[in-house]
Amino acid sequence: MQNNHTKEHLFKILVIGDLGVGKTSIIKRYVHQNFSPNYRATIGVDFALKVLNWDQETVRLQLWDIAGLPPLRPSPNGRKEDLDSKLSLANGKHVATVLLANKCDQGRDVLTNNGIKMEQFCQENGFVGWYETSAKENINIDEAANCLVKHIIASE
Ligand code: GTP
Ligand code: MG
Repeated sequence: MQNNHTKEHLFKILVIGDLGVGKTSIIKRYVHQNFSPNYRATIGVDFALKVLNWDQETVRLQLWDIAGLPPLRPSPNGRKEDLDSKLSLANGKHVATVLLANKCDQGRDVLTNNGIKMEQFCQENGFVGWYETSAKENINIDEAANCLVKHIIASE
């Protein structure tokens, strides 16, 4: 039944990271439930919309698929520092950020073996969580998005 009083949220989600890590593929998997092994670099920015039913409320995620960026510097938290220096919310807080380690289907279990270090890294650098994901095998993408939405709603 249509309820005119259903609360609606609109969240903008920026998907950023190095060239070719799978940003477009993650969004494609999340929104269209498919995957292509072919690589076409994103030029500029593409947009996609995902609508979620969330505790009787509607969440619209406007996904900003941003062209891959050249690596900033060797340290992995460079991107997060860059983001935080350029963007904060009206209340002065940093935007909720989740860290994805994609292509986990390729079988390099380096990160899983460093779970505790990853937890610590997230705490120190202000990520609300981290996930090993695969756009190819559809691993942890819904989980990562839900984690982000949960944190955004909690901080509203
Ligand atoms: P830019 O837009 O250039 O920054 O690239 P991107 O980060 O959007 O990467 P894209 O999604 O275009 O994927 C790059 C390549 O990696 C493509 O050939 C994809 O098929 C492949 N790829 C993406 N995700 C995965 C994954 O989870 N597993 C595997 N095995 N390949 C993936
Ligand atoms: Mg892309």
